[in-house]
Amino acid sequence: MAPEPSSTTSAITLNINGEKRHLSVDHRTTLLDALRERLDLTGTKKGCDQGQCGACTVLLDRRRVVSCLSLAVAAEGREITTIEGVAEGDELHPVQQAFLDLDGYQCGYCTPGQICSAIAVIEEHAAGWPSAATDDVRPGAAPPPLTPDEIRERMSGNLCRCGAYVSIVRAVARGAEAHAEAHAAGRSANGPASRSAAVKEAAV
Ligand code: FES
Ligand code: FES
Repeated sequence: MAPEPSSTTSAITLNINGEKRHLSVDHRTTLLDALRERLDLTGTKKGCDQGQCGACTVLLDRRRVVSCLSLAVAAEGREITTIEGVAEGDELHPVQQAFLDLDGYQCGYCTPGQICSAIAVIEEHAAGWPSAATDDVRPGAAPPPLTPDEIRERMSGNLCRCGAYVSIVRAVARGAEAHAEAHAAGRSANGPASRSAAVKEAAV
């Protein structure tokens, strides 16, 4: 049962996958636990619970965060996207499709975090952000190609205990190609960027 608001709890509204969810939480509740334990959004996985594995990665205002180190109360007013929200209806996000087509997983436990992270990586790269693997980081330098080294560096916060890294790198590259093609065609590559502004309401 939801706790009553008090000095240690707050009633908050989270905007998750285009839907407003109202809940009361202890101030110490992580975003990960709020998603999984309170809102039944169990696609986001708990691996280490201490910020080291990336299994719990979600998007906050389209930037990736590890939800196990994020407080639910701090996410109020932000646009939260979990793995449940990256597809458009029955149409998978291109990165999801690439993971399927290229076997970018084995047990799949790390996969939701990998996919959320990859979606943000592709946007970060398309926006010209350098990484630690980028040779020329001078202002005005041409954006680096998204090489396998760039992908490995940018995805290094997401661990895969099955060791499916070879296929994961290929899947991220395929997803980036789809993103570039959609951009060139003047389309969004779906997912959080193109979600309808209509926000549904739901209380727990
Ligand atoms: S569960 Fe959050 S980083 Fe491992
Ligand atoms: S697919 Fe099993 S942990 Fe990555």
